Amino acid sequence: MAESFPDGFVWGASTAAYQIEGAVKEDGRGPSIWDTFSHLPDKVSGGETGDIACDHYHRWPEDLALMRELGIGAYRLSTAWPRILPEGRGRPNPKGLEFYDRLIDAVMAEGIEPWICLYHWDLPQALEDRGGWQNRDVASWFAEYSAMTVRRLGDRVKYWATFNEPNAAAVLGYAEGVHAPGIRGRTTALAAIHVMNLAHGLGVEAVRSERADLRIGNIYNFHPREPASEHEQDERAAVMLDALWNRSFPDPQTRGSYPEPLAAEMEALVQPGDFDIIKQRPDYFAFNHYTRSSTRHDPDHPFEAGTVPPAPGRPVTDMGWEIAPEALRAVLVEVKERYSGNLPVYILENGAAFPDRIDEDGRIRDEPRIAYLRDYLAAVLDAIAAGVPVRGYFVWSLLDNFEWRFGYGKRFGLVHVDFATLERRLKDSFHFYGELARGAPLERE
Ligand code: FCB
Repeated sequence: MAESFPDGFVWGASTAAYQIEGAVKEDGRGPSIWDTFSHLPDKVSGGETGDIACDHYHRWPEDLALMRELGIGAYRLSTAWPRILPEGRGRPNPKGLEFYDRLIDAVMAEGIEPWICLYHWDLPQALEDRGGWQNRDVASWFAEYSAMTVRRLGDRVKYWATFNEPNAAAVLGYAEGVHAPGIRGRTTALAAIHVMNLAHGLGVEAVRSERADLRIGNIYNFHPREPASEHEQDERAAVMLDALWNRSFPDPQTRGSYPEPLAAEMEALVQPGDFDIIKQRPDYFAFNHYTRSSTRHDPDHPFEAGTVPPAPGRPVTDMGWEIAPEALRAVLVEVKERYSGNLPVYILENGAAFPDRIDEDGRIRDEPRIAYLRDYLAAVLDAIAAGVPVRGYFVWSLLDNFEWRFGYGKRFGLVHVDFATLERRLKDSFHFYGELARGAPLERE
């Protein structure tokens, strides 16, 4: 059965600065927390770093040609705060702004709509040295950086997001310590959540006072968390992880309160007027989604909530993430009921890592990735049929890239990158996605 997406549906691809750019010391860029973290021993598989990554900083014309060939209508990138403000605040680095300026012009010259995310996890190290996301001042500095970037690019870029997955940045970076800046704790994570929420609010205000004609939102991550058993402790752990992961940003930002059971603990951090700053009317509602999982009580976890690997026999990606497209449909329906109402909804990341193999004829027959995309896109069609106004889908990712603590071993791209030579090679999924982007209906299994 073949089914079409609605007219005007946006087909995009997403990337992030630290994962693709490389050139970390070039043209005045300052260090970010990921430069520091990835250079510490045993933090990233194989000791890999983003020093070179895909070398997109130099090879972007080639990557843009790939986007043209793919036929996408939109490209989501992130601007690197430490490229624009090497010290995190103060005077901008002209070469940093020029890089994005040129890139945006070139993207638009291809008829591709750029979407900019202002924060994809690369906090300037100079600000981490002042307490990072635990320091309320960082929220104001984020707003200054946002305003500065919009002043330069907002005449052309219409779609903006403050944060990519602030929940992941807070939980992985300031609770579990497995992402930069590598802090493990509970109060540290709660502080980071609150300061990032404030930064979102101040950022939206700053962007809107620069220009009133932009569309701005935040990019959440929804990952359904079921209890692993009926034991009360597991149920409590699942409710906690759901609040922490799925609700601690969209709840205050769209409803003006922290979710239970975190609300009481957050009270100590909330100052009068904070929710007036945090709750801002978004112009669209966006999120990333990859998988679902179950949760068990884990006394060693800062929030006593541990993630259980999928049951043996369940289909998984190379990340070990369960492939469960019905979870995306459920998330979309819930998002509309709980948060987005009639706002246009965008999926700004979805995709899968698989251990791709280059065949002797040079082709990469990545059937598992094609199947993943086909099934998840079918779930998007189901949600649209159920009345969710999904207006676009962005695949993660255009290129294989630096997958955070997993380094270059996990490949999410539609384009294969040989990290020794930096050669790009199209995978079969590139052609599959390109046909959809050009308007072909989805052949449902
Ligand atoms: C998301 C991140 C993105 C990428 C994918 C696989 O959580 O936003 O940078 O790492 O996961």
